[in-house]
Amino acid sequence: KITPVILSGGGGTRLWPMSRPERPKQFLALTGPHTMFQMTLDRCCDAAKFAPPLIVAGTSHIGLIGAQLEQIGVSDAEILLEPCARNTAPAIALAALAAADPDAPLLVMPSDHVIEDVAAFHAAIDAALPLVGAGWLTTFGITPTRPETGYGYIQTGEPLSPGVHKVARFTEKPDAVRAAEMIAGGDHLWNGGIFLFCASAYLEALGQFAPAMLSSATAAMEKAKRSGNQIHADKAAFETCPADSIDYAVMEKAEKVAVIPVSMGWSDVGSWDALYDLGNHPLQEYVTDLDGKGNLIHSDGIRIHAAGLEDMIIVASGNDVLIVPRGKSQSVKQIVEGLKQP
Ligand code: GDD
Ligand code: MG
Repeated sequence: KITPVILSGGGGTRLWPMSRPERPKQFLALTGPHTMFQMTLDRCCDAAKFAPPLIVAGTSHIGLIGAQLEQIGVSDAEILLEPCARNTAPAIALAALAAADPDAPLLVMPSDHVIEDVAAFHAAIDAALPLVGAGWLTTFGITPTRPETGYGYIQTGEPLSPGVHKVARFTEKPDAVRAAEMIAGGDHLWNGGIFLFCASAYLEALGQFAPAMLSSATAAMEKAKRSGNQIHADKAAFETCPADSIDYAVMEKAEKVAVIPVSMGWSDVGSWDALYDLGNHPLQEYVTDLDGKGNLIHSDGIRIHAAGLEDMIIVASGNDVLIVPRGKSQSVKQIVEGLKQP
């Protein structure tokens, strides 16, 4: 069976003001009754295929995680807690070291993505499994639609098996010029940020390309403390771990990397505009949008009354209200940066 490893450690400031460090976007219900974290769990609950999930998160979110698991009736999850954030490569290393069977496949998933076609996702997993068994690191490739600089790019190489290609080159977060070139070339996919591999294959690659990370993570798990369904990685050991993402630390460097191109209605919901584009944002009962067109209005309680607006994004949370025209929601980054200034 496949063990789902759910990464839930990111701060996610791009959906500010709704998303905040104490409640990042994976814990918000923006597209329906469930949060993105809950929908991620729902994608891997088929007990015929998946073992109980392993959630990797920071200690500050333990309360939220417990409450959200309870709400959807998931009682068999294990929660692996990081005493400090060291990015995804070390977080995944802790999970791989916690795996009961080093040769069992791990499905590493961010907790803050939307996947509309779960059947297509599962079919892509099935296509990857034989290669995973043979020690390949596999990832899922999304057809790119714009020269986005916030993603990893995968140049597809020779076919390895039906639906699976060798990765010719993995380029994490290119600059705008490189991104445009890769899109124009037509042989690149976006990295979806979802990975499938055996714990042993990942740890072997980590030992090769980031040995300091592997030794800190190993020490952190050797000294880990378990209480109930929680595993607390050792603080002193994990603090010595270098920080890096799996993309830079492993995927760009490893040889046996394969990609499964999949069309599954994927979005990493990286902005309010991206959420609007998903098209699933019912108006809350306490929001009025009179004669409005193309607006995204969201509030965590305050009543918003808009009239005659077009193509606007309005988000109210706590004492903050964001108002930007659609297409400009990337400015949230500057706004949040500005707030941090004294
Ligand atoms: N547990 C844990 N600990 N999770 C973490 C940590 C950490 O220290 N850092 C990040 N995460 C989680 C985030 O919550 C998110 O769900 C996931 O890991 C990916 O991290 P991001 O920080 O969102 O990565 P990214 O968006 O810059 O880039 C990745 O995703 C893109 C697609 O959305 C890369 O894999 C890119 O190649 C990819 O295109
Ligand atoms: Mg992301």
